[in-house]
Amino acid sequence: MEETITLALAKGRLAEQTFDLLEKMGIDCSEPRNPGRQLVLWDRASNIRFILVKPSDVPTYVDHGVADLGVVGKDTLLEAGRPLYEVLDLTFGRCRLAIAGYPEPRTGNVTRSTFRVATKYPNIARSYYGAQGRTIEIIELHGSVELGPVIGLSDVILDIVETGSTLRANGLAVLEDVCDVSARLVCNRVSLKTKRDRIRALIDGLGTQVDLMLKEKEAAKA
Ligand code: PRP
Repeated sequence: MEETITLALAKGRLAEQTFDLLEKMGIDCSEPRNPGRQLVLWDRASNIRFILVKPSDVPTYVDHGVADLGVVGKDTLLEAGRPLYEVLDLTFGRCRLAIAGYPEPRTGNVTRSTFRVATKYPNIARSYYGAQGRTIEIIELHGSVELGPVIGLSDVILDIVETGSTLRANGLAVLEDVCDVSARLVCNRVSLKTKRDRIRALIDGLGTQVDLMLKEKEAAKA
């Protein structure tokens, strides 16, 4: 019997797209696709254990080594700042992190001594503005971040932009790009040594499936 590999997945669309790739490799994802209230799911035949967790917890499980591998957005990875190996860009879940606000400075807004940034990503905001030598005040929010400038809580936001429709609907625009985001496969540093052959096979298998997926997309466009 091959040794057990534990895979931590961010619940939702990223997990579903990961199952699509794993199934093409012959891994049975029927249990994690229909988990009910169960949190630990298996493909017993290939001895792969799945745990479905909140996106921001994926790096925590992998860093502690209770999951060997994880799939999570680059945004969550940067924010967590944990020492994981980022072994593959899975290319789906594409969006970008950006600074957004009103395209023109607004008159009538309260003048503050500090520049305020509302965000779900305080660590990324700190390092982004820190690299520019700018002092800012971070207002940490957990959703509907666009409200920040609209309601006068902050000057700008640092947030995910996918289609841009939330920004447009609120009269906001991208002011600066921070970085591109997509789903990444991450690996625990110790697991990569102790379970090397199994993990390498999974990384290579997923890499092959990502290449095939991209080729299929290209062919469909042509
Ligand atoms: C995310 C993000 C933006 C929106 C961007 O929010 O924080 O608000 O999606 O997508 P768009 O560019 O396609 O409009 P999410 O839907 O996760 O909800 P939240 O605001 O409650 O976090």
